Amino acid sequence: MKIVCVFFVSFVCLLEKFADGKKSPNIVFIVSDDYGFRDIGYHGAEFATPNLDKLAADGVKLENYYVQPICSPTRSQLMTGRYQIHTGLQHSIIWPSQPYGVPLDDPTMADFLRGQGYSTHAVGKWHLGLYKKEHTPLHRGFDSFYGYWTGGEDYYKYYVCDRFHNRTIRDLSASGFLLPGQINNQQDVEWCGYDLRDGNEPVTTMNGTYSTHLYTRKSIELIEKASSSKQPLFLYLAYQAVHSPMEAPDKYIKPYSFIKNKYRRIYAGMVSAMDEGIGNITAALKQNGLWEDTILIFTTDNGGQILAGGNNWPLRGYKRTLWEGGMRGVGFVSGPALGRSGQISKELMHVSDWLPTVADMVGSKLNSSWKPDGENQWPMISKGKRSARSQILHNIDIWTPLKGNRLYNNTFDNRVRAAVRVGDYKLITGDPGDDRWIPPPHEEIDLMTSKEKVTDPADTKNLWLFNVRKDPSEVIDLSLTMPEKVVELLAVLATYNATAVPPNYPPSDPNCDPKLHGGYWGPWE
Ligand SMILES: *[C@@H]1O[C@H](CO)[C@@H](O)[C@H](O)[C@H]1NC(C)=O
Ligand SMILES: *[C@@H]1O[C@H](CO)[C@@H](O)[C@H](O)[C@H]1NC(C)=O
Ligand SMILES: *[C@@H]1O[C@H](CO)[C@@H](O)[C@H](O)[C@H]1NC(C)=O
Ligand SMILES: *[C@@H]1O[C@H](CO)[C@@H](O)[C@H](O)[C@H]1NC(C)=O
Ligand SMILES: *[C@@H]1O[C@H](CO)[C@@H](O)[C@H](O)[C@H]1NC(C)=O
Ligand SMILES: *[C@@H]1O[C@H](CO)[C@@H](O)[C@H](O)[C@H]1NC(C)=O
Repeated sequence: MKIVCVFFVSFVCLLEKFADGKKSPNIVFIVSDDYGFRDIGYHGAEFATPNLDKLAADGVKLENYYVQPICSPTRSQLMTGRYQIHTGLQHSIIWPSQPYGVPLDDPTMADFLRGQGYSTHAVGKWHLGLYKKEHTPLHRGFDSFYGYWTGGEDYYKYYVCDRFHNRTIRDLSASGFLLPGQINNQQDVEWCGYDLRDGNEPVTTMNGTYSTHLYTRKSIELIEKASSSKQPLFLYLAYQAVHSPMEAPDKYIKPYSFIKNKYRRIYAGMVSAMDEGIGNITAALKQNGLWEDTILIFTTDNGGQILAGGNNWPLRGYKRTLWEGGMRGVGFVSGPALGRSGQISKELMHVSDWLPTVADMVGSKLNSSWKPDGENQWPMISKGKRSARSQILHNIDIWTPLKGNRLYNNTFDNRVRAAVRVGDYKLITGDPGDDRWIPPPHEEIDLMTSKEKVTDPADTKNLWLFNVRKDPSEVIDLSLTMPEKVVELLAVLATYNATAVPPNYPPSDPNCDPKLHGGYWGPWE
């Protein structure tokens, strides 16, 4: 019967599933924004995450799990299973004013699950394209959407500004997103608008409601509706939390008055609100009789932003960097339908694996419309099998300015920003970003600076090799002692690079101006 499912229209599969009397599992896929590796109870956070800890303890903790260093790239890979070098998203995020998105010929996880008979719902952050309506959620496989299309905004006002971007402008602002008046350069244009929608319709009535409460409530409404539906539920809940701006209701921050660092204290409150929301969602799934048939997946989208309260200690670097602190993610799978509990997986997994993994989870396969770079990790997660992958292309970005000198001819150019994992080894080339180790503020440990910087004041170093299994903090650079390994991994990068499409990162389009579109960020083409 499986073969029938692969080759014939999806309702045949549906009939088969209902005939078996076995409904496909509900999938609740929760993405947290900028949630640091250190910032969950079971990784040693100094604040409490009881609901996340309980869910993770009742399921499989993914402890060798990688995402991408920034937002749109991770979310694009989650949705399409495709590496950035194959979608043009190598360089950066999708800024609100830029006319591009995830390519429309790459269908999404929601397209797939809809084809499997699921009702598909997205709540919270989108950030996969908005300049044309074809890029927005209802055109990308979702039956409903409630949330925002840009990448970040005020948690109460649902309002955000942007300025001009092009590939020659380096975006170094801490938060990435601008609140009114945060433009530093007076000559910059500033475009500002609201961003909250129910489906395609602007929402005007939520001013003053904290987004973690709003997105939790909307998710619970969907769960209540799903309880009387024959269709299995796919709920993609992408919380705004815990990205900057630093905002949380006082009651969540109060218990953390012992945290002296202000950003860290507010961040603790933001995490607490999210943890409570996830507790409420789990309770709603139970009250509505869905929990027994549910698989809950939790993931961050990238490493914590140390400039906005996040932390990744003892990993090196942070959000936006190719160090482990930028990419090694918090993630777990839980829920009774998983059938495993109390497990810690040290098997290698990557965010691009979710699409093929979910396909197997629902007992189906991807047809040729999907060309994932990810691997099916369902046997690993559900049965404790070995990982289906031993390599990860972390990224190749030919548009970040070259750094240092070329050391090897006739292979990958090590001045280019790139990183690849092969087995236990990770090679980093070019400019990977801030290379410090940053302990949580309360731990009063001096910031370690990299030894190389001390011996290389010009900072032209552009090649590192680590055994990440033995040395997850990336302290011991092996690039000089293992030159044959370096050459081997450069060749792997060259092979990936040969399959790359050119980066797509168009300059901002002044037609984006929300003033021209009723005050809201939305399609202008
Ligand atoms: C793959 O499945 C989708 C629906 O899930 C369908 O729209 C599409 O036509 C299929 N593509 C091929 C090549 O079979
Ligand atoms: C990028 O923007 C800057 C500032 O507006 C401008 O000076 C520069 O010419 C632009 N470069 C490109 C390639 O568009
Ligand atoms: C939202 O509420 C704030 C604070 O009460 C107020 O300053 C602002 O004007 C309101 N915005 C809208 C669009 O109503
Ligand atoms: C969780 O539910 C409680 C009780 O209804 C409510 O007071 C609280 O605001 C909810 N939390 C979130 C984050 O939605
Ligand atoms: C690489 O090629 C350049 C130009 O042909 C040459 O000058 C340089 O010595 C070569 N470098 C190595 C490491 O072989
Ligand atoms: C990557 O591939 C592109 C396109 O084929 C090529 O122009 C470029 O030189 C390659 N870069 C490296 C670092 O190998």
